[in-house]
Amino acid sequence: MTIGIIFAMQEELDAFKALYPNNEEKNLFHLKLTIITTDKHTFVCVLSGIGKSQAASATTLLLSHYDIDLLFNSGVAGGVGVSHASIVLAEATLYHDVDVQAFNYLPAQLPGQDVLFPADETLLDYAVKICETQNITYTKGLIASGDQFVTSLDPLKTILEHYPQIKAIEMESASIAHMAKNFKVKHLIIRSISDVIGDESQQVDFNAFVNEASQKAATLLKAITDAL
Ligand code: ADE
Repeated sequence: MTIGIIFAMQEELDAFKALYPNNEEKNLFHLKLTIITTDKHTFVCVLSGIGKSQAASATTLLLSHYDIDLLFNSGVAGGVGVSHASIVLAEATLYHDVDVQAFNYLPAQLPGQDVLFPADETLLDYAVKICETQNITYTKGLIASGDQFVTSLDPLKTILEHYPQIKAIEMESASIAHMAKNFKVKHLIIRSISDVIGDESQQVDFNAFVNEASQKAATLLKAITDAL
């Protein structure tokens, strides 16, 4: 299979690359791609950069230039009632900073779109099975994206009231899932908690845990794709 993987940060990409000794670099417009070829799969890894626009443009370029069978996003996130070292598997993603309620849309809903961008259920089931057999601490739920590093739950009050299943916050996955939907490509988002939103030590924790959390997500992603 040809598997596309979007990584927002260098640390997240490096954690996956470290699991595969042979890889090749290519350029696609402004993007640096890492191509990993194994007996089973070709992985086309893209370093998107941080934020929704970067993620959307990288995903669009990837899906329009490569024949991608499955799309993944692996990385870190801020936990909402979920602690360090836990994996969050997104049943669906949404934008926490979209608000068109003035025109009677739901919170987080863009005109012409559903609120939620659901993951592929088969991939999600695979991921759950692997977490359970390997004793990996995980939770399933919603992941919400926006263009902010979130340090307090206060600005998310309304969105959390509407979507209490939100377990993690980050800055890309809803864009990635949205573009996957546009291109009719199945996807799964895997995020590992680097910081807990509202904790006093959040920024310090992010820096301290970003590598370890990236490695956890990358290791799980390898296990999932090994099993496909
Ligand atoms: N990525 C990791 N932690 C985050 C946070 N607290 N807010 C947004 N993106 C994140």
